[in-house]
Amino acid sequence: MKNKYKFPENFLWGGAIAANQAEGAWNIDGKGMSVADIAKYKPNIDIKDYKSQWHVGIKDFKEAMNAEEDTFYPKRRGIDFYNRYREDIALFKEMGFKTLRVSIAWTRIFPKGIEEEPNEKGLQFYENLFKELRVNGIEPLVTLSHYEMPIYLVNNYDGWVSREVIDMFIKYSKVCFKRYKDLVKYWLTFNEIDSVFRHAFTTVGVLEEKYKSKRETEEAIYQALHHQFVAASLATKYCHEIIQDSQVGCMVTKTLTYAETCNPDDVILAQRDNRNNSMYSDVQVFGEYPIHIKRYWEKNNINIKMLEGDEDILKQYTADFVAFSYYMSMVQSINAEKREKVGGNLVTGVKNPYLPTSEWGWQIDSKGLRIALIDLYDRYRKPLWIVENGVGAYDTVENDGSINDDYRIEYFKNHFEQIAIAIDEGVECMGYTSWGCIDIISASTSQMSKRYGFIYVDQDDMGNGTKNRVKKKSFYWYKNVIATNGEVLDLPTNMVVG
Ligand code: BG6
Repeated sequence: MKNKYKFPENFLWGGAIAANQAEGAWNIDGKGMSVADIAKYKPNIDIKDYKSQWHVGIKDFKEAMNAEEDTFYPKRRGIDFYNRYREDIALFKEMGFKTLRVSIAWTRIFPKGIEEEPNEKGLQFYENLFKELRVNGIEPLVTLSHYEMPIYLVNNYDGWVSREVIDMFIKYSKVCFKRYKDLVKYWLTFNEIDSVFRHAFTTVGVLEEKYKSKRETEEAIYQALHHQFVAASLATKYCHEIIQDSQVGCMVTKTLTYAETCNPDDVILAQRDNRNNSMYSDVQVFGEYPIHIKRYWEKNNINIKMLEGDEDILKQYTADFVAFSYYMSMVQSINAEKREKVGGNLVTGVKNPYLPTSEWGWQIDSKGLRIALIDLYDRYRKPLWIVENGVGAYDTVENDGSINDDYRIEYFKNHFEQIAIAIDEGVECMGYTSWGCIDIISASTSQMSKRYGFIYVDQDDMGNGTKNRVKKKSFYWYKNVIATNGEVLDLPTNMVVG
């Protein structure tokens, strides 16, 4: 059966990965250590306890700095994309990808962040990667910072809390724009910039334990965030100057929160969460802080140092498009304490009885994606790009080597139907890049076994395996979706698998 609603002709279908979860080669060709290399695989932790998985304390930090191998630090080995990217791109091409979202590891270009000159080997790697994508007709979408800050800047500058980090980031960004100006047109500044309060260490290099009180911690995180906002605006400015037809997007997590009931008190709680979530894109699209956040700072004695001119920079260099990740929706309730809870990317929230949850406790909500698209478009009137969406699952390799991930197909099918409806209602959506289109290391749990891909990678949580790539059933399904530009979302009866 054909999808009743159509995708635009030039819709950018594809997939997304990040350097730190895919490349491996963490200390090769001059690469410096980044915050991702500190992320420890904790086999005994509850996989639904999201906060503890991300948490990096001073002790963990020291331990990781002294560990020389990758055994418990799976992001250091990734899936060896660094050496196998050509093979992987050939598979993406076979699926018909129009675009691939990747990130540049800052530490390959400036290993510590402070160097005067960039590392040529790092620059060459990404030049080769982008050329390979172009040769295969795949448009690169490149994130400048995807949880990949140099450790040196954490140790010596308190991460993004220090103003100097803006200059270092801009130096790095300019080098990238100049080197890749003929290869990359679409850029993203900071991945999920709103994650500062979910995992401050990974997002802005803030070790929360170092601060004495909740107020001081919050102040440091907001300060770091302000610096990232300014850096994002300046990067947008320079990108436009250096690459004439470039487009730069902001990138946020769309966390959609429902009120449990129509009790206005539930609605107020949900509104508060949605408003907080919007703050991050509001600053980058409207070019100014919303009043409510300034009021919050005042009331809580949070003092953010802004230089004269910062607010003009924010106002002048806003995002060209709004990119976002969407995985789940949430529920707020005044009776939260009495309700069953689910885990999730963000915090433990109230269970929504109308929705299924993934094995990691994420509430799967395809209609929520439609709501998110409509909300974002109505608010900003800017083109949108869904740059992350997907479901983490344990996959089983059958005796004949096949991987029949019908649950993944079902997930995507439902989400694609809702995207098409939103587009039909007038939302301008540039493209869709499914998260982890090839299995990579999980950002939160550092598991390999939490798989999102159309392509299976033969590697377990401890790094055992051949790293061979195997096409899952969803690979053939997605290929058909792209070939029909989203017109056929059912499994074709004549689909050849394997
Ligand atoms: C997003 C991140 O928060 O979620 C990705 O931008 C991450 O880096 C993705 O991988 C899925 O989360 P996880 O923890 O399942 O890998």
